[in-house]
Amino acid sequence: MKKKILVVDDDRVMLKFVTKLLTREGHEVQAAEDGFAALNLLAVFTPDIMFFDLIMPKIDGGKLVKIARSMPQMNNCFLVILSAAVAEIDFDFEETGADSYIAKGPFSSMAEHIKAAIELSDIPRAQQKSKSVRGLNSVYARQLTKELLSRNRHLETILESMAEGILEVYSNKVVYANGVAVSLLGLPLEEILASYPADLFTHDIGQRLGHLLLTSPLEPAGIGEKTPVELNGRQITIKILPVRGETSTIIIMITDVSERKRLEMQLQHVQKMEAIGTIAAGVAHNFRNTLTEILVNSQLIQMSYKDESGLHAVAGRINSSVRRGSSLVDGLLQFSRKQIKEEFELIDLIKVIDEICQLIQKSFDQKIEIQTNLPARLPIMGDSTSISQALMNLCTNARDAMPDGGKLIINGKQEGRRIVVTISDTGQGMDREAVAKCFDPFFTTKPIGKGTGLGLSTTYGIIKSHEGLIIVDSRPNQGATFTIHFPAAMPGARKKDDDTPIIVRGKGQCVLVVDDEPEILNAMEGLLNYLGYRPEFASSGKEGLEKYMQRKPDAVLMDINMPEMGGVSCIEEILNHDPAANIAIISGYEEEGIDGLSKEVRKCIKDYRAKPLGLSDLSELLAGMFKG
Ligand SMILES: Nc1ncnc2c1ncn2[C@@H]1O[C@H](COP(=O)(O)OP(=O)(O)OP(=O)(O)O)[C@@H](O)[C@H]1O
Ligand SMILES: [Mg+2]
Repeated sequence: MKKKILVVDDDRVMLKFVTKLLTREGHEVQAAEDGFAALNLLAVFTPDIMFFDLIMPKIDGGKLVKIARSMPQMNNCFLVILSAAVAEIDFDFEETGADSYIAKGPFSSMAEHIKAAIELSDIPRAQQKSKSVRGLNSVYARQLTKELLSRNRHLETILESMAEGILEVYSNKVVYANGVAVSLLGLPLEEILASYPADLFTHDIGQRLGHLLLTSPLEPAGIGEKTPVELNGRQITIKILPVRGETSTIIIMITDVSERKRLEMQLQHVQKMEAIGTIAAGVAHNFRNTLTEILVNSQLIQMSYKDESGLHAVAGRINSSVRRGSSLVDGLLQFSRKQIKEEFELIDLIKVIDEICQLIQKSFDQKIEIQTNLPARLPIMGDSTSISQALMNLCTNARDAMPDGGKLIINGKQEGRRIVVTISDTGQGMDREAVAKCFDPFFTTKPIGKGTGLGLSTTYGIIKSHEGLIIVDSRPNQGATFTIHFPAAMPGARKKDDDTPIIVRGKGQCVLVVDDEPEILNAMEGLLNYLGYRPEFASSGKEGLEKYMQRKPDAVLMDINMPEMGGVSCIEEILNHDPAANIAIISGYEEEGIDGLSKEVRKCIKDYRAKPLGLSDLSELLAGMFKG
């Protein structure tokens, strides 16, 4: 029966021989000199049988099979590989996927094999016996082909192991794509091969690439070098590299820069957070001083007007407002990490998480299912109250993100010296912009009155102050996962004794307060008298030093930020005269916290407290100073 046959071979003699033979047999024959020409022909000619060589430039036989198999009209085409290579190497018939194989040999025997293959093509595929190679006995191994093939493989191995995606484009069609290119493009290799490169990308990128290929195919050019473009969720750059001396061939290199961009963004984020932190800390500093004045004065009212219950109650309300205000300031300072570090103790995160779970189980909507996956112990050095607050903020956010219910999952594990806790939800998730900004103070997407936007920034600060790290991963409608890393506590760390302070009164010891703010001095006078100490005051470092020399006080409470002689110099001067001086620092906000003081000074001071300092704090501080 007459067949439509396509013959593909880059060996002209062979091509002529097979074409002539088949035409003489009465078949309709088309010839192509390589895989590329064959593909062009396949657009207009659908053969019943295709004979083709395995080793050809541009598109080789192996790829040709893949492409042909992906073309719907070629479904029934019988594919015969006609090549010496099938006899020479450890040839993988299954992988190549052709229907039949003929080893090239003497023309006479090849003619027989070709005719036999045409007969075989009439037998339905299912009934064909296992694929055998015809003509093996008449062929001798040719070292050259072997070498060519192995060299080819060697080059492909190099290309395959490159980190970049590589496309080789010949006459505007892709003839080679390495594994990275396939995975970045997210398309099967068959679809990529023989395609116009611009069609492989999303519309925007495709248009830009098409334009470049059209206007300057011989010049190196690029897309996304300044601002990478997005392809299948990855950030990529594309380079077009012409091949010297081969005007029809270009190489397109696709580089995945997602990781580099992510690191850049992370660095930018850290810098932004630092900047916001500095502003926040500055605001908090002034605010703290004001709060101290209010607190101390209202406490004085309470003490002085004990019998007037109305006034007492009003002052009590002022006190609690101040405490609320100061916790807001704490929030800001925690975020900026400029807060004076409290002494951390050994805590078990499991306990903290258990408490939170109990609380949220009771208070969250029943539609929210809470799952935990925790080991027996997760020891860290920290402050359990603030850690609890940090985790609680994450849980409340998760709840808010799931108004119709969902799952809140808390996982914890220890990985060597790190403790990793993840809190994930199945809620509405965040878009890219929200992910970038969610840790910023005052960033909120909640309606006015519903959120202050301080939740995550506080959490961020708390985790940072624990030398930890928090990362978020979220997409719109795909929930959010917050991952926290803490350094694990070393074995042997000890718990802090938790003796709660009670008011301890003094025995008339002389306490010198050095502070440039008259309100603070006024307030301190009241408090110190009340506690049974004998107050002395100085409103500058210089005066402080003079007073110290005159009165030889039993203790000094020193502010740091003062005009002329600051607190630190004053302390140094005092210590010069009296190395045994009993000094504590009471300060608003210092850029470096206690770390800003020299080692010598730090060694000599008894304590370091942040304003506002209430009655019990002051009593505890002084009791400590006089203890030893
Ligand atoms: N689990 C989450 N799922 C989706 N979006 C979240 C999630 N957590 C935080 N967000 C987004 O980040 C924003 C900031 O969160 P943050 O906790 O800092 O403030 P808030 O919850 O809006 O207000 P506040 O916590 O101060 O009451 C939220 O408004 C929300 O848009
Ligand atoms: Mg919140």
